[in-house]
Order: sequence, then structure tokens, then C-alpha cells
Amino acid sequence: MTARSKEIKQFTDAAYGLFIHFGLYAIPGGIWQGKRAPHGSEWIMRNLEIPLAQYRKLAEEFDPKQLSARWYVRKAKEWGMKYLVLTAKHHDGFALFNTAVSDYSVMHTPYGRDIVREFADACAEEGLPFGIYYSQMQDWEHPDGDGNNFDYKKEEKIFSRYFYEKALPQVKELLTNYGDVFLMWFDTPYDMPQDLCRELADTVHALQPRCLINGRIGYGLGDYRQMADNSIPTLPYHGAWEVPMTLNSSWGYHRADLTCHTPATVIGKLIEVGSKGGNVLLNVSPDERGLISELSIRTLDEVGAWISRNAESIYGTLPAPVFPYVTRFGKVGAGRDGSLYLYVEHHPGFPHRVSLTGLVSRVRRATLLCNGTELRVAQSYEIARDEHRCYVFLPETPPDTPVTVIRLETDGAPVTQTL
Ligand code: GLC
Repeated sequence: MTARSKEIKQFTDAAYGLFIHFGLYAIPGGIWQGKRAPHGSEWIMRNLEIPLAQYRKLAEEFDPKQLSARWYVRKAKEWGMKYLVLTAKHHDGFALFNTAVSDYSVMHTPYGRDIVREFADACAEEGLPFGIYYSQMQDWEHPDGDGNNFDYKKEEKIFSRYFYEKALPQVKELLTNYGDVFLMWFDTPYDMPQDLCRELADTVHALQPRCLINGRIGYGLGDYRQMADNSIPTLPYHGAWEVPMTLNSSWGYHRADLTCHTPATVIGKLIEVGSKGGNVLLNVSPDERGLISELSIRTLDEVGAWISRNAESIYGTLPAPVFPYVTRFGKVGAGRDGSLYLYVEHHPGFPHRVSLTGLVSRVRRATLLCNGTELRVAQSYEIARDEHRCYVFLPETPPDTPVTVIRLETDGAPVTQTL
């Protein structure tokens, strides 16, 4: 048991969180003087080597009048998300909070209000665990921060000077002034000295012992494993882990990419990650007004409605047992109570049944999660081939879309065959 076992279980049970990338980069929105930033728009300053003197002028027009922290927090809950992570300071070094460390912050803009405070208060009032993203290594404003080698000379940088002048003091401010912080989400540790990573982790634990730390603190010092962006591990992974995921190609708002995953795609990723025991932290990208696209709202509304019909198969699941064959109907999940969940994507042809080979345990009951209907089950064992077969018969028309979830209750914990 670690000091944060309870919080880690809360995290793994949560399964689904909202990531919000917001900052000065929402103003150019990926386009600078007609040039398109490659990849994420939040990297525009570094990728297009925009001089700090020009980029920081964006602060003079930063005024997201339609930003409502309460709207995002309430929608996150409606969408079925169980925690929220907001970028407090991204790689560009601009702080969305009232920091005594630097004038490069939202307090020195026409908006003039502490955005981290607004989200922290809304999360506390709505009962949604609040997480803070902080880019601890990269900082394109501070002369000793990593990443800006076009305004500053890399060979003249002393990283520890930036670390003690800006990063560590700002992390202390975030963990002192904004109430309970559910998790600190660090990013791009690169080759940051291990002793400074440890000092950062120790500081978080000293100020808020129950605050989780993600894996990008570096050197295995986190409470959970942070997978690569939009990357789902091939095999089930026992332990707490999370995949940060975008709805399109950019973390920050990008004028040239207003696409959005379909609800079926998002649900498919939630199921795949959950069936391997992980969390999805799904990102939205407010524009310079503080708003996200109608398309992304519709997508997340639909996903949230599906989750509400199938909640027990999303929250508090475990990595599913391994079956001998890839299940053609879709994925398999596992509940903490020993239930199995069959996520039926492709409604098989007539007879409408799903086939599960390799389940040794006897099925006591099969039901549709969306409406509680009990389903007929047929199990057989072919001795000559030592093969266990299980068929579950479905109604003619798919009871749910885009995925129908069947709960299987077995005699005892489910036992499977492997080849
Ligand atoms: C990468 C990107 C960063 C983004 C993060 C989200 O580290 O550099 O811009 O915030 O992924 O996971």
C-alpha cells in the first residue's frame, strides 16, 4: 500500500477524464502570419520560432469573454468524466493563474482573472476532482527554460536557475492556493536531472500528500503510468495508467483542424483502453473566446449518453482475461465483481449471436446492460479439440448503438483457455 492507494483506486475506477488545453496559443489557433504550425497549435511559438517579444504580445489581447469554468465542469460531469485536468502553464511559459513569480500571466491581460482559480472553485463546488497540467521542463519565456533556443543561447542556459526561479515556486503556488488538487500532470521531462524531478515530486507530496502525480514527472516517480499521446498499449497493463487523447490532430485550438472523432470512435477507444485496465483523458481545445466547437460538444454529448446506459462496463473495470482468439464481435471487459462485458460492435448475421471461444466457466446469466433484458446462452465443450464455446443470442435489431454491451455472470471468477 502506498500513501495514495485510495486515490489511485479512485483514479483507476474513474476511467475517463476531461483534458483542457487553453492559453495564449488559442489566439493564433495554429496559424501565424499565414503560416500553419505543424502538429499541435500549442507548439506554434517553438515550431515557427516566433520571437518571444512578438509572441508575448498575445497577452495584450487575451480576453476569452465567453469562457465559463462552470460550464466545462458541469458538461464534464454530464459527459461521464470523473476528473478534469487544466493546463495551468504550458510549454510557452504563460501562466493561467495569479503567480507572484512572473508577470507573464493571465493577471496581466485584459481578461485579468485567475482561470485556474475559476476551474478549481467550480470543480470543488460541483464535486469533480481537479487536476493541473504544468510543463516543468519546457519554458519558452524563461531564459534558462528548455526549448527556446532562438531567443536564447542553449549553451548559456542553467536549467536549475529556471527550476528554482520559476517551475518549483509556481508548482508550490498551485498546490498551496487552489484547494485540493487531485493530480499534478507534468509533461515532457526529456533529460531533466533526476534529482530535480525527485525534488519536484517530494514538493508535491509535502504540500498535498494525497495528490497523484502522472508518469511524465520522469524516472518512474509518478503514481501512474502515462502512455504516449493517443497511444493504446498492445497488451493489458495491470496498474494505474492513462492515455491522453485528442479529438483531432491538435491539443490546442487549431483553426485549420476543426475535425472531431465520431462518437463511435471515442466509445471504441474508451472500450479498448478500459478492457486493458486504463483511463482515457480526452482533450478539448477552447478557442480565443473560451468556447469549443459545436461538433465536439455533440460528440461528447453522444458519448456521455451511451456511457450513462452502460456505466458499469466503463467505470471500475479491470484488465479483461485473455481469450485464445480475437473476439470478432468486439472487445471483452472485466468488472471487479467477476462479471465479463461483451462490447458488441458488429451485430453478427443471422442467427444474431456472439461467439466466445475459450470461456471455461459456466455462464449463470447474460443480460443487456442498456435495458436489463436477459439473453439466451448456449455453451458446449468439444473434447476432441479441447475447445470451450459460448454463444449468446441477441435480439434481431441492435438494442444499443454504436455498441451493445452484454454482461456475463459466471460461476466464480471467469476462467479462460489460452492456446
Ligand atoms: C505532448 C505535447 C504537449 C501536450 C501533451 C499532451 O507532450 O508536447 O503539447 O500538452 O502531449 O499529452
